[in-house]
Amino acid sequence: MEMKILLLGASLVTSLPTMAGGKPISPNLFGIFFEDLNYAADGGLYAELVQNRSFEYSPSDVDVHKQPAGGWHPFTAWEFAREGNGIGTISLETREPIHPNNPHYLLVDVKTVGKHGVGIRNKGYDGIVLRKEETYRFSVFLRNPDGGSMPVDVVVKDHKGTVVADTSFTASSSTWKQYEMVLRSRSDADTAALSLLFKKRGTVAVDMVSLFPIDTYKGRKNGLRRDIAETIAALKPAFVRFPGGCLAHGDGLDNIYQWKNTIGPVEQRKGDKNIWNYHQSMGLGYFEYFQFCEDIGAKPLPVIAAGVSCQNSARRRGDGQECVPMEDMLQYIQDILDLVEYCNGPSTSEWGSKRAAAGHPEPFNLEYIGIGNEDHITPEFEARFKMIYEAVKDKYPEITVVGTAGPGEAGKDYEEGWKIARKLGVPVVDEHYYKGWGWFLENLHRYDSYPRGGSKVYLGEYASWGSALENALAEAVYMTSLERNGDVVEFASYAPLLARVGHTQWNPDLIYFDGKQVYPSVNYHVQKLFSLNRGDTYHADVVTEDGGKPMLYSSCVRDSHTGDIIVKLVNMDGRERKANIDLNPFKRIRTEAALTVLAGDAKAKNEPGKPASVIPAESRIKVKKSFGYTMPAHSLSVIRIKTK
Ligand code: AHR
Repeated sequence: MEMKILLLGASLVTSLPTMAGGKPISPNLFGIFFEDLNYAADGGLYAELVQNRSFEYSPSDVDVHKQPAGGWHPFTAWEFAREGNGIGTISLETREPIHPNNPHYLLVDVKTVGKHGVGIRNKGYDGIVLRKEETYRFSVFLRNPDGGSMPVDVVVKDHKGTVVADTSFTASSSTWKQYEMVLRSRSDADTAALSLLFKKRGTVAVDMVSLFPIDTYKGRKNGLRRDIAETIAALKPAFVRFPGGCLAHGDGLDNIYQWKNTIGPVEQRKGDKNIWNYHQSMGLGYFEYFQFCEDIGAKPLPVIAAGVSCQNSARRRGDGQECVPMEDMLQYIQDILDLVEYCNGPSTSEWGSKRAAAGHPEPFNLEYIGIGNEDHITPEFEARFKMIYEAVKDKYPEITVVGTAGPGEAGKDYEEGWKIARKLGVPVVDEHYYKGWGWFLENLHRYDSYPRGGSKVYLGEYASWGSALENALAEAVYMTSLERNGDVVEFASYAPLLARVGHTQWNPDLIYFDGKQVYPSVNYHVQKLFSLNRGDTYHADVVTEDGGKPMLYSSCVRDSHTGDIIVKLVNMDGRERKANIDLNPFKRIRTEAALTVLAGDAKAKNEPGKPASVIPAESRIKVKKSFGYTMPAHSLSVIRIKTK
């Protein structure tokens, strides 16, 4: 790639006239949207390596039309293991479970031990991935209904049958007891399986079979996959929205995401059907979400259903949007108020004490709550939204509520959603749209005319339909318009964030991964360049085309913390184009600047499983108060100019 930089002047600091103040940009503008979709949580960010560890998968987790070969049931990902010709049976039981929220467990009845014992084997998600010399925490809950003791072998074998890691212990408790030990892997394995082999005649009850890397993000127990978490953290998002998306308002009333089911000891959490046709264990629950936000310095933005379920999913059964009955709304609202107490209340309060019990006595400093997710704006929605909104405002006026304006960029739900928000004075409204990349170029003035002084915008879900450079560049152009309107657009997040290769229900996604690696898309690099080069004031008319016309596909922001001026330029053309940059409005600049360029073939993608083909290239360039810059074909250029 050839880049032409026009060098104009070489002194270290150039004095320029005082800059105009610029237009303020929300400090929260660029964040992320996390939804448990595409195996983003279980089998994704949540580092658990055992799939279906508590035998709670159920055929109704999955749409009738989407049942995979082999079915979806309590034994999914498990096999009966009788290595060495042992004889026995396994059965699914529900009597005296560990906890009523976790009702199923397995009973292994060993009749003849054979050479290596009788038990069960788990294949993880597409095979268990272990790395040589890494350590893993194995744990299991066992109960010996007959009394007595039961010797147990824990063995991880690779696909050739070679033992990669193993340990042994003896279980001897007639009540549920957790056994925990650390395994060290002797070699790399990409598709290993974990076996639990019982080596004495008799019965044993088994639940919560778990294998976790010790090396999770920040080393947290019950933690997150380090490589995925680091890729997210590298975005330095201002906020994290979770747990969805449609997952938040759920497939019918019974499937509305209930945050209270997702906290406390993992064996006591209540798993559920995932609206995207799999099971959610809730191992990654609200405590872990808040902890992750804190770990990466992002503000949490939990989204709670507005007392109505997703209009689309339940419609497949013929009932569409389902509503919490009015007589249950008080309790429903109380659960939302309790969430604020869980996050911000003293550790002596009822819900604050649960946060403290999980190891976090300090508050999580919740500032925002989303109510509703792109709902169908019906009178039923409005009544429930209003009740929730007013209750939160009354009890916690310091919390900013984010409302919703339906699933599209326009139309009836959009209009009704905004009408309600303006009527009630809802501080922020969530908009969603997924479009072809041309749409983004054609709608750059969307927010220019949004009224100032009223409700602000959260562009909660947006993406162009594709992972090619041309898609990412169109998003970049659009993001310059978000910066220009950063006084009315408070938050924006590309969606969806994560996808496990081979388990996607939605494409494109920002970050793909498999069990071994993470594959950031080209779109990811655009998001990262904007997030890492954000400013708090926007400065118009800095970039012009030849002839002096302002260049629309560009922005100039200033970061008051560092004093840096940041110019972003996007070239959608297949040929180089020249831009003129006029920094005269700024007081002083340094003449050496950092340049980052993302460029390539318009159709190029970063394909999962292959080396990335489009990544940012960094260099240094000379600049002065007025200089020309030649944008490479199909490129985003970010020029960061120091003023101090
Ligand atoms: O981001 C994927 C889905 O798109 C979200 O769950 C939903 O809110 C939207 O329709």
